[in-house]
Amino acid sequence: MNDAMQEIETHARRAGMREFLSGRFVVFDGPDGCGKSTQFRRFAEWARAQGVTVAEVREPGGTDIGEQIRDILLDPVNDAMTVRCEMLLYMASRAQLLEERVRPALARRELVLADRFVSSTLAYQGTAGGMTREEILDVAKVAVGSMWPDDVVVFDVDTATAAARMNPNRDRIEQKDASYHERVREGYLHQCREDPARYVTIDARADADTVFTQLVGAFDARMKAGIAPRVRG
Ligand code: TMP
Repeated sequence: MNDAMQEIETHARRAGMREFLSGRFVVFDGPDGCGKSTQFRRFAEWARAQGVTVAEVREPGGTDIGEQIRDILLDPVNDAMTVRCEMLLYMASRAQLLEERVRPALARRELVLADRFVSSTLAYQGTAGGMTREEILDVAKVAVGSMWPDDVVVFDVDTATAAARMNPNRDRIEQKDASYHERVREGYLHQCREDPARYVTIDARADADTVFTQLVGAFDARMKAGIAPRVRG
């Protein structure tokens, strides 16, 4: 292929990706220490380079009220917090985030890139914490309404690699024992198996460049497959 043809193809690919990502709700998720935050930053930068406007949000938090809820949730002093209280606080932060940030950004056809979502609650408070999927989804019905993500990217990593990558100043959740984190990982993998159309599993054990190549490849494949965003009320 000559240079001119290559340029036309690159241009067409960027335009296709811009159209594919605009107005899309994408979640990045995975166990603590999976390297998601690095990939999140790189992907946001890459999406902007495709010409997409990106709204970056994180959970818990992402709004003034949500950040206050985050402080309560992650403060190691709150070790008496029950799993039900935990689940409801994550959902409360989420409800605020959806109304204040996510819904307006999607209405403007931005790409909403979320660091964690209901998939975290299902893995942490569900599979690891012992709440049932039904209990969590009943509350999610109230908190989330029709605002479900189009793509949930799970960065999968074994617990030993994840533990080595974790910040030594661990928050209340990160301080939980190894078996809890093993169940969190299993919780994510279970969700990926149950809903392969929405979930993208990325092997996150490799170095950041290799993981990023996999990630962009997965979005290219989804664009080529024409996976449309959800119709939201
Ligand atoms: P972060 O470290 O990715 O900012 O996430 C904060 C912690 O909260 C992390 O340990 C995962 C946990 N978490 C839950 O337990 N349930 C949830 O619903 C969410 C969103 C996060």
